[in-house]
Amino acid sequence: MRIACVAGARPNFMKIKPVVDALDYAGATTDLVHTGQHYDAAMSDVFFDDLGLRSPDVHLGIGSGTHAEQTARVMIEFERHLATTPTDAVVVVGDVNSTLACSIVAAKAGLVVAHVEAGLRSRDWSMPEEVNRVVADRTADLLLAPSADAVENLRAEGYRDDQIHLVGNVMIDTLLANTDRARQRPTLLGLDLEPGGYGVVTLHRPSNVDDSATLAALVGALADISRDTPLVFPAHPRTAGRLAAMQLPTTLRVIEPLGYLDFLALQSDATIVLTDSGGIQEETTALGVPCLTLRENTERPITITEGTNELVGTEPDAICAAARRVLESPPEARCPDLWDGQAGVRVAEALIGHLSASQRLRPTDLI
Ligand code: UD1
Repeated sequence: MRIACVAGARPNFMKIKPVVDALDYAGATTDLVHTGQHYDAAMSDVFFDDLGLRSPDVHLGIGSGTHAEQTARVMIEFERHLATTPTDAVVVVGDVNSTLACSIVAAKAGLVVAHVEAGLRSRDWSMPEEVNRVVADRTADLLLAPSADAVENLRAEGYRDDQIHLVGNVMIDTLLANTDRARQRPTLLGLDLEPGGYGVVTLHRPSNVDDSATLAALVGALADISRDTPLVFPAHPRTAGRLAAMQLPTTLRVIEPLGYLDFLALQSDATIVLTDSGGIQEETTALGVPCLTLRENTERPITITEGTNELVGTEPDAICAAARRVLESPPEARCPDLWDGQAGVRVAEALIGHLSASQRLRPTDLI
């Protein structure tokens, strides 16, 4: 049984790790395919080192480009890879351009496609990741959902129950496996921070950072909040260039993007996190750290109904008011069902069970 496991961008690496581990443990042959969508040491290499993820078996070397350029290059190179490597199934994770590209190629090659993180919906079609999610789900034979709301979304879109598997959250497998190790690092010391004495910011969504007036308004709100609670802002390359041109108070510290363990250490001792990331909404819920999401919608409403997240939009006064309220009265820590560190194992069971049932393999080939 040979399974290609695809990762392309920063938020994919911590999702693919528990899946590769569980498939390897179950006796499958896995090819770890890195598309190269993210390629900087800080956006890619450090995650392999921090997570103990083996070097990619295949590197497609795609790099940056427009959406069409990036997606097309991944499709061409992934198709070439599949043409020379007999493969039974392809696992794609999340909602980045690499997810979309590889799911389409795999479906057209007639392979079993498994989408990990299926069923999340922001219902905002202007968000590139929403297009990627919907198309990846449509190509997938196996829809591996992280939470009950995602299962409901898939049922409402007409997917069959035998395609849908509620497996839990693979990103939280990695978080639970690494939190103790992360907290032993001298991350806070290196940044001259005290546990519980600071907040964390991340912003990289095109809708928040590509327009300078929108970004300036958000930064104004963050500067206000930072006068009471100092904020540390590890900036994505997309955002960093734009921030460099702005005047920021010393209480709003922009730093380089952090590796997985350092960012986990930073999040876990923060009093508040302000973000537009998808994954950070989930990680803060699992850590019990208050999170304000600076967007108009979220594909992860479970982190609001069953976690520590609050959707506050992008209006500066609303952000400042919410931050004051949350700092005075933090939400109760709680975590959705099956965010328990075993999601990767459930993914492997579902995929191996599917391949076996589809008689692509004899049962004796499985282990
Ligand atoms: C991508 C994903 C997004 C995810 C985010 C996390 C898509 C559509 N978007 O957005 O879902 O939340 O990653 O990081 O797939 N760049 C570098 N170095 C790198 C990678 C990118 O400098 O290693 C620069 C690129 O040149 C580009 C910008 O960052 O100018 C954006 O990169 P891109 O991969 O297009 O999208 P992200 O904004 O990173």
